[in-house]
Amino acid sequence: MDSDLINLINRLQDTFRNLSEFTTEMMQLGFVGSQSTGKSSVLENVVGLPRGQGIVTRHPLVLQLIHTPSPNPAAPTYTEWGQFLHIDKRFTDFYEIRKETEQETFRFAGQNKGISKLPISLKIYSPDVLDLTLVDLPGLTKIPVGDQPSDIERQIHGLVVDFLTVFSVILAVSAANVDLANSDTLKLARSVDPQGRRMIGVLSKLDLVDTGTNALDILTGRVYPLKLGFISVVNWSQQDINSEKSLPDALDSEAEFFRSHAAHRNIAHKNGTKYLARTLNQVLMNHIRHYLAIFLRCTLPAQQACWTFLPVNGFSRHKVRYKPHTMNLHQRTGFNSPKESFG
Ligand code: GDP
Ligand code: NA
Ligand code: MG
Repeated sequence: MDSDLINLINRLQDTFRNLSEFTTEMMQLGFVGSQSTGKSSVLENVVGLPRGQGIVTRHPLVLQLIHTPSPNPAAPTYTEWGQFLHIDKRFTDFYEIRKETEQETFRFAGQNKGISKLPISLKIYSPDVLDLTLVDLPGLTKIPVGDQPSDIERQIHGLVVDFLTVFSVILAVSAANVDLANSDTLKLARSVDPQGRRMIGVLSKLDLVDTGTNALDILTGRVYPLKLGFISVVNWSQQDINSEKSLPDALDSEAEFFRSHAAHRNIAHKNGTKYLARTLNQVLMNHIRHYLAIFLRCTLPAQQACWTFLPVNGFSRHKVRYKPHTMNLHQRTGFNSPKESFG
């Protein structure tokens, strides 16, 4: 994440006593898309997590990043760890985090292909992150496989809509090698964000299409216009995962891919994971500025009342009553009480 943004948030939080909860509420990013379009890959690349072996997300994964200042900035001993809600243990190896996520998925959603609406909750503490919550949702699917119930499509749809309504930013991920005009993902994202103010289209797997000219039509908004546009990325392929390619190497080959692509080199600077991360920073920054202005307009005695009437994410058409002390982020995401979430 952009260090300017990290610094801004930290300064704001130092300055305003009540802002911590405010910014936590503001900083929720959701990833939605069909199965295997690359949602988990994009999430991991944006956050900078190493990629494990093909996990299919069958739970919502609520990933909370928590900025933790390095105890000694001059000689940082690595102070980065993960902590699950369901197990009392500090994980310092990200491959183990990946393994634990997989095991927890098996325990809850079953060995086969069932899905669960109970989120797996993981906190990552690091000096390099911004306080931010990312939610990786199960992929939209139509046809039940394994021991999935026959109404799997409706179940996942309901679960995704519940989450989408609270996100500040929605990343709607589609693969470049499928037909976008009838995309269920985009339709769904649009239904919760009709004005397209908080949805960024992400187009993955550009390396798997022949010429990339169709993708070019999407990226320039000719197929499915989105206010914040589409950004294309090339994630790790299965082969890259097998050969344990590093994240910096993967980002380099992605940049080279765009620079040397006949159809895409002219817009290479507006594509790729790094550009996506910058755009996210920008959208979040604007989002926070917008709400900070509302926040600051409230004088102190009236502050509590003002909080109460702030819309949940500011972009919902119907202003939802925001009650910070009776319904917080943790309750909504089930972070503190997974058993009770989204009943
Ligand atoms: P999810 O189900 O949407 O979370 O998708 P994943 O991130 O798990 O990716 C599914 C599979 O597609 C994995 O094997 C990835 O390596 C592969 N994949 C994802 N993005 C890309 C991409 O941009 N290019 C290629 N070649 N493979 C990708
Ligand atoms: Na998936
Ligand atoms: Mg996934």
